[in-house]
Amino acid sequence: RGHEGVGGGASVRGRGSGLPRAESQAEGKSSGLEGGKPGADDPINLERRVGLLSGVALIVGTMIGSGIFVSPKGLLERTGSVGLSLVVWAACGGLSLLGALCYVELGCMIPSSGAEHTYFLTAFGHLPAFLFAWVTIILLKPAMLAIICLSFSKYLVEAFASDCEPPLMAIQLLGALTIVLITFINSYSVNLATRVQNVFTAAKLVAILIIVVGGMVKLGQGNTQYLATGFQGSTKSFGDIATAFYSGLWAYDGWNNLNYVTEELKKPYTNLPRAIIIGLPLVTICYLLVNISYLAVMSQDELLASETVAVTFGNRVLGWAAFLMPLAVTLSTFGAANGTAFTSGRLCFVAAREGHMVDVLSYVHAKKLTPSPALLFNAAIALIMVIPSDIGSLIDFFSFTAWIFYGGAMAALIIMRFTMKDAPRPYKVPIAIPVLVLIISVYLVVGPIIDSPKIEYLYASLFIIAGLFFYFPFVYMKKSIPGMGHMTTILQLLLQVVPTDVMPD
Ligand code: ARG
Repeated sequence: RGHEGVGGGASVRGRGSGLPRAESQAEGKSSGLEGGKPGADDPINLERRVGLLSGVALIVGTMIGSGIFVSPKGLLERTGSVGLSLVVWAACGGLSLLGALCYVELGCMIPSSGAEHTYFLTAFGHLPAFLFAWVTIILLKPAMLAIICLSFSKYLVEAFASDCEPPLMAIQLLGALTIVLITFINSYSVNLATRVQNVFTAAKLVAILIIVVGGMVKLGQGNTQYLATGFQGSTKSFGDIATAFYSGLWAYDGWNNLNYVTEELKKPYTNLPRAIIIGLPLVTICYLLVNISYLAVMSQDELLASETVAVTFGNRVLGWAAFLMPLAVTLSTFGAANGTAFTSGRLCFVAAREGHMVDVLSYVHAKKLTPSPALLFNAAIALIMVIPSDIGSLIDFFSFTAWIFYGGAMAALIIMRFTMKDAPRPYKVPIAIPVLVLIISVYLVVGPIIDSPKIEYLYASLFIIAGLFFYFPFVYMKKSIPGMGHMTTILQLLLQVVPTDVMPD
């Protein structure tokens, strides 16, 4: 097993089906011991350790990252008015909820981890699934981790360097250290990682509560003049609204997170829908209230002039407790980074299991049962991406590419309604929902290209095409990369990892 290259050996493990390899384990029956150490006879696999609470925390705790504390500025700038910006915030929440409802149908119909990768594989076959894995694992997920860790370290460093502009080097170094720490936590124990996620999610909800209460008090004292400007000055440009959506959707991104770990979810058919139905409205309401709070305290111009709205808000409202706001942002971004690393690791693990990445990435630690090679791989690329560190343009670019795939998942749902008519679907959304989300995602992707073509879009397309050069020899023809066998063995010994579903010696 340890001597196969890309694609080798994956066929044994249900390659190509994309279908419920975990079906027998679904609804709570665990593959290994419930939380204990694996014994000699237990099959090695990831275990079902994520319950409803942790599921909600994985969604809410990744969605609420730095976006809500920073993006209101971008949204307001692009929409031009208080009223329209609130409408766009609500619309982004609505769109994410509709998307997530479709993911409930997909996740319960195909209860394997890996989200889009698994759905593309089942609906469209290997090539689209591979190209998704290629772009997402090599580029998108590590970039996301890098972005979030960089914003984490930016706030932390700024909290200490109050009198001067903090040195970029310090931000990058701390960002890199954060990636390492989070990867260690996730490789060390699934329980530890979910606990970190739960604690940090609770912390950021408290921070949001503080902002909301502060804002309500101000509103109660009659500070409604800024909100009362309503729709004055709203933009009329379609392109501006699309880019406003990009800032907003980044703040909401992460709504599909639980679908990456369906196989590790206890009672997936109950907990996946529940976590989504609880998580998305919760986040949407939080975001709307927080925005209203900001505008109870500062005018549109003041908000636009502030680098981090939340911190300005704290300085105005919280008095001696103003330090809580930068602290809240750091806690929040750390939690989001942890959730991102957790789910990205699973995506890479699943893609490797299907033969779309080198085999060793689908191995798990023999004792800890964590997908440590996949986690390390994700971290290694993220570490490289910390170096350029231009966060702003990365975010627009990110939304652009991500919505290609969300649209793709909608198309997969619609197509499977025809090609897999009789497959059991414990939850079924009205077909109008995926159609609507698909249309919007086409608009979100095509709009900016027509409106203001950027060289980045070309790079993205070229990168996708480059994937084909790997697909045909290594995945389609199953050639192994020279020397990969030895490399795999070395890595196995070094990391103490084994293939899943195989008895240890
Ligand atoms: N919504 C988060 C934020 O505002 C970013 C989420 C990144 N996406 C993800 N799938 N991890 O910071």
